[in-house]
Amino acid sequence: MEIKNVCVIGSGIMGSGIAQLIATHGYQVNLVDVNEVILNNALKSIENNLEKFYIAKNKITKEEAEKILNRINVYVDLNKALENIHMVIEAVSENMVIKQHIFSELDEICEKKVILASNTSSLSITEIAQKSINQNRIIGMHFFNPAPVMKLIELIKGKNTSAEVMDVSKQFSESLNKTVVTIIDSPGFVSSRLIYVLCNEAINMLSEGIASIKDIDSICKLAFNFPMGPLELSDLVGNDVYLNIGKYLTKEFGKKYKPSQLLKEMVSEESLGRKTRKGFYEY
Ligand code: NAI
Repeated sequence: MEIKNVCVIGSGIMGSGIAQLIATHGYQVNLVDVNEVILNNALKSIENNLEKFYIAKNKITKEEAEKILNRINVYVDLNKALENIHMVIEAVSENMVIKQHIFSELDEICEKKVILASNTSSLSITEIAQKSINQNRIIGMHFFNPAPVMKLIELIKGKNTSAEVMDVSKQFSESLNKTVVTIIDSPGFVSSRLIYVLCNEAINMLSEGIASIKDIDSICKLAFNFPMGPLELSDLVGNDVYLNIGKYLTKEFGKKYKPSQLLKEMVSEESLGRKTRKGFYEY
């Protein structure tokens, strides 16, 4: 099946980045969120990103940026947004109940050939699909932040995802100029399970007073050639996102994944990182 029109549900950090990326590669995008204020903010942030990182750096012209923006339409009404769609990419908050509900609704509304992908960063794809009838078309398509920049898409095969859906999704991902790595569904996948352990341990060491925020990040950057330290990364991804991953991995695999007390306190104080302008660093 040829994919031309894509619906992206959730217009936060990831949904807006994915919409920008997909529209840049010539696809029509219907972007959905719960209200118009959030959607307008998403459009503004896409416009700003195109200006700052592409037009200002002479990578695209103003006219090309306008064409990209014109390919993105915003909707609050999910039914309308799903008309003539070939693929849906869900990027709403990391919550199993919400995602299961959205997927069973999508499964009811969309024709059977429409591929339904989740950008979850950790939740089992098989479990997300559990409340849907056509589980063969449900797949994990894990983009990284910022979606227009990061090279990898981790493609996750749920227990019932069909080989055809895997193939078409891989071709689609490659058409976005991404490198695709395919894995079998498991909580946290490969990427989030590994990076959560690193960031959570960095936060544990910070609360033990072993080193400062800056020094922990410097050690990782200089010793391992990481482009960013774990505390900078946690701020970028969202401290709430890592806390949720930690709680989920603890539930699935046991207490070795227990989130740091400091991480919990930061989230309850709304120190979520860049999105609240306050985390391990101030923004
Ligand atoms: P976010 O909090 O920035 O955005 C989520 C958006 O979903 C919000 O705008 C919210 O209003 C909207 N939303 C919630 N329920 C909705 C519904 N029923 N219908 C329509 N819209 C709804 O979250 P973020 O960071 O963009 O994460 C989204 C997903 O992507 C999560 O599953 C997360 O785990 C995953 N992810 C996040 C990464 C990151 O670096 N932040 C990286 C890769 C994946």
